Amino acid sequence: MQITAAVARERFGAFTIETLDLADPRPDELLVRIVASGMCQTDQHGRDGYYDTPLPAVFGHEGAGVVAAVGKDVTDFAPGDHVVMSYPWCGTCANCRRQMESHCQNSFPLKMRGTRADGSTLVRQCDGAPVYSAFFQQSSFATHAIANARFAVKVRNDAPLDLLGPFACSGQTGAGAVLNTMQPQPGDAFAVFGVGAVGLSGLMAARIAGCDPIIAVDIHAPRLALARELGATHTIDHSGRADVVAEIRRITGAGARFSLETSAQPAVFREAVEALMPAGTCVLLGSARNGTEVALDMPFLQFGRVVRGVIQGESHPQEFIPRLVDYLMQGQMPVDRMITFYPLADINRAAQDSTKGATIKPVLRMPG
Ligand SMILES: NC(=O)c1ccc[n+]([C@@H]2O[C@H](COP(=O)([O-])OP(=O)(O)OC[C@H]3O[C@@H](n4cnc5c(N)ncnc54)[C@H](O)[C@@H]3O)[C@@H](O)[C@H]2O)c1
Ligand SMILES: [Zn+2]
Ligand SMILES: [Zn+2]
Repeated sequence: MQITAAVARERFGAFTIETLDLADPRPDELLVRIVASGMCQTDQHGRDGYYDTPLPAVFGHEGAGVVAAVGKDVTDFAPGDHVVMSYPWCGTCANCRRQMESHCQNSFPLKMRGTRADGSTLVRQCDGAPVYSAFFQQSSFATHAIANARFAVKVRNDAPLDLLGPFACSGQTGAGAVLNTMQPQPGDAFAVFGVGAVGLSGLMAARIAGCDPIIAVDIHAPRLALARELGATHTIDHSGRADVVAEIRRITGAGARFSLETSAQPAVFREAVEALMPAGTCVLLGSARNGTEVALDMPFLQFGRVVRGVIQGESHPQEFIPRLVDYLMQGQMPVDRMITFYPLADINRAAQDSTKGATIKPVLRMPG
């Protein structure tokens, strides 16, 4: 069928809005009419060659929409279902067999190669030339996408679909790092470094878990103001000369039980570790470029402190995304506070606003 999509044709170049041809769903796939898609830094990183995704390509991995058709073997979905498309995993590697799907050993090609698992492409130009898609096995910067039924998540149909796409990546990454990985107890001291979409999702989850204090660190005053409205008990502006670690120790006494690093900067990551109390845990979410290193004090770590990286909030999307939607509907996860909507045609403005920090979470609304 014909679709409208944003196509990246050159590294660091602008997206162009084009009419393309999308394949029919295979027996285990869904055709999804995308209502809206969040935009994440990873989409621009993909365009810019960080992951060697071939071009031309359609990006987008925070898609929410309505099932338009199902393959003949699909039994869990029907046309009309509201869905969020989540990250892919292979289902057979050692980590998938332990239900650690977010750490799937084969996830990289499934997310980044621009094809289905078997190497086939799904999208063509009008002249028949292939366009890479299947980014995170979805490519949601388009009016329609093909999703494997395993990675689609059915969501309640009374929830506003245009707010749900970001749960697929930034939302479950931040909230899952707290609720699935840290599992804090009420009264645990929590500090989040960087309050973009990922950090704010973690912060809202820390509030749901009853963490206290909740300390937000960022360099943008408006983001810190929003963090306070969403549950931070304390904020620290890192744009000046603040001694962030000393300030967190002053607030908490012993240090934070949990810290969440989302800035992707080594100096900030080190502070997130240094702010920990003995036996505290720092979770690294920020995506630094390959080769980025950080130095940590060995005796400091020896006192039970844990430092670990987490992908996609270690969530099981089929359970976790509906839970996040319930939090949204109960007013506990007001993601609308961080979302700015753009029509798909304004995708380049959305990307620029996101890069310069003018918008926290751009969400593209699809035409028609
Ligand atoms: N681990 C995963 O699975 C996963 C998934 C999605 C995103 N990510 C990564 O998570 C990170 C955060 O994503 P996002 O969408 O929230 O991005 P973002 O750029 O909106 O958030 C980063 C925040 O860090 C802040 N920051 C910059 N310098 C700082 C400093 N010196 N001190 C404190 N804060 C500082 C920025 O102002 C910004 O608010 C990105 O690196 C992204 O690629 C990881
Ligand atoms: Zn993402
Ligand atoms: Zn796997």
